[in-house]
Amino acid sequence: MPRRFLVTAALPYANGKLHVGHVAGAYLPADIFVRYLRSRGDEVAFICGSDDHGVPIQLSAEREGVSPPEVVDRYHASQERDFRGLGIEFDIYGKTMSPRHIATSQAFFQRVYDNGYLKKRNTSQLYDPQAGRFLPDRYVKGTCHHPGCGNPEALGDQCEKCGRTIDPLKLGDPVSVLTGARPEVRDTFHWYFELPRFGERLRAWIEGHPEWRSQVRQFTLGLLKEGLPERAMTRDLGWGVPVPLADPDAGGKVLYVWFDAPIGYVSFTAEWCERTTGRATDYQTWWKDPETSIVHFIGEDNTVFHALIWPAMLLAEGSFELPANVVANCFLNFQFPGKDEEKMSKSRGTAVWIEDYLREFEPEALRYYLTSVAPENQRTAYRADEFVGHTNDELVATLGNFVHRTVTFAHRYFEGKVPAAGDLDPQDRAHLESLRSLPGRVGAEIEGMHFKAGLETIMAEARGANRYFDSKAPWQTRKTDLGSCGRAIHVCLWTARTLATVMAPYLPFAGEKARKMLGLSAGEFVWTRAADPLVAGSSLGAAEILFKKIEKAPGEES
Ligand code: 2FM
Ligand code: ZN
Repeated sequence: MPRRFLVTAALPYANGKLHVGHVAGAYLPADIFVRYLRSRGDEVAFICGSDDHGVPIQLSAEREGVSPPEVVDRYHASQERDFRGLGIEFDIYGKTMSPRHIATSQAFFQRVYDNGYLKKRNTSQLYDPQAGRFLPDRYVKGTCHHPGCGNPEALGDQCEKCGRTIDPLKLGDPVSVLTGARPEVRDTFHWYFELPRFGERLRAWIEGHPEWRSQVRQFTLGLLKEGLPERAMTRDLGWGVPVPLADPDAGGKVLYVWFDAPIGYVSFTAEWCERTTGRATDYQTWWKDPETSIVHFIGEDNTVFHALIWPAMLLAEGSFELPANVVANCFLNFQFPGKDEEKMSKSRGTAVWIEDYLREFEPEALRYYLTSVAPENQRTAYRADEFVGHTNDELVATLGNFVHRTVTFAHRYFEGKVPAAGDLDPQDRAHLESLRSLPGRVGAEIEGMHFKAGLETIMAEARGANRYFDSKAPWQTRKTDLGSCGRAIHVCLWTARTLATVMAPYLPFAGEKARKMLGLSAGEFVWTRAADPLVAGSSLGAAEILFKKIEKAPGEES
């Protein structure tokens, strides 16, 4: 029975280009997961888009001296191009500034309000007297107020070091990022989301998911133990979704960007349904049917929003299902030879930009490298000196070489056709036994969100495949025993099919090349048929190089 999955990847702010840290965090694992599910025959919607509102966009627009929509349009297009170039294929890459999204988030806010979970409260807020403006979220910086953290660069909405949400009034030594002025405290009011009312249900829900990554469970259960604070869900800001309430005081206020952004997953699903079925209301099949598994892929800094605030919003709205999993990757640091490891950062220029990467290199090398060093349970680093070795010694010399040498041999000595199997010997049988279990082993790792382990399993089998080829020495047996040579090549082609099918979610461009080389139709190149033998006598396609060697690491000066 096909299963149904709604898979989302965090919406990047539309105020910058993508770098390898973004890709390693949410997007590549999500794409691998989706490709795997599709190959198995499951029904999947893969949803992403840009996060167009809030302080990050308004601040970029102010710094560049252009309007927020201009910033959004520019970066939305660049992000979409980069994702496509890497083979990360969403069903829709939406925009949260679209009219449908604005209407959807307003309706959602209204329902949460009508259900009694949003309360108007007088509050104090930091205000820049020089700029004459309130300073919501990232307009202010200071020292993190959480015990044991002390990050002096905490932003007004979240501390990047400890991952917790920030109360700007508690920041140590706050500074306006607009003018550098020390902010004043002024009165205002906002609508607060009564998060504490959901603490128990969230705890029970998370405890009911022992299969989630431990860092997500530990972090969220820790926060629940401390007790969730109420959180303002509106802002005094010029750019965002207008607060929809009939209250005359709502004028001029917008929704907090972290309220409207996750609703983007829903509004984009509706948009995609309208495009594909003509019925936007079909989004309900994906969001309100307990048979659908909703899986959110995110970076570690988004955990509090996706695993606590967003599920509480869904409960408060009342008609949605909760996510089945929130898959967070940790940060990927950056390290070049002779330099210290550091955080990937736009402002410090310590990043490899996808746009630059794709100008010189193939997507597969990056997909391979980033999966093999994926920060699945702890922070890891992009190491320029490792990249070349991973590409040339593993991807090219092991995986690519095995498929290429096998198909080339069949072309040269068996007229480009699959030779007959004949009687298999014990070595063939042992090799095939391992091969037959490969899709199950790799699938179990992917279903468990262990993408790196799945790739290692494939590479171990590819190394075994090269050993099998070498030990069979078909270059000798072709002169002495053509039957035995044909049998070995038959087994190698079979192995190439299995390897190519299970590697395809990781390495889709190479998977497609391999499919053609092996003479398989798209319908034959699916997970459930990965371990099927190739039909003796069937024709192979032309041999192609699957992966190119590289001379230097991306991002490294030549
Ligand atoms: O951290 C970020 O880049 C946010 N724009 C992620 C938003 S994810 C979702 F909720 F929309
Ligand atoms: Zn902190």
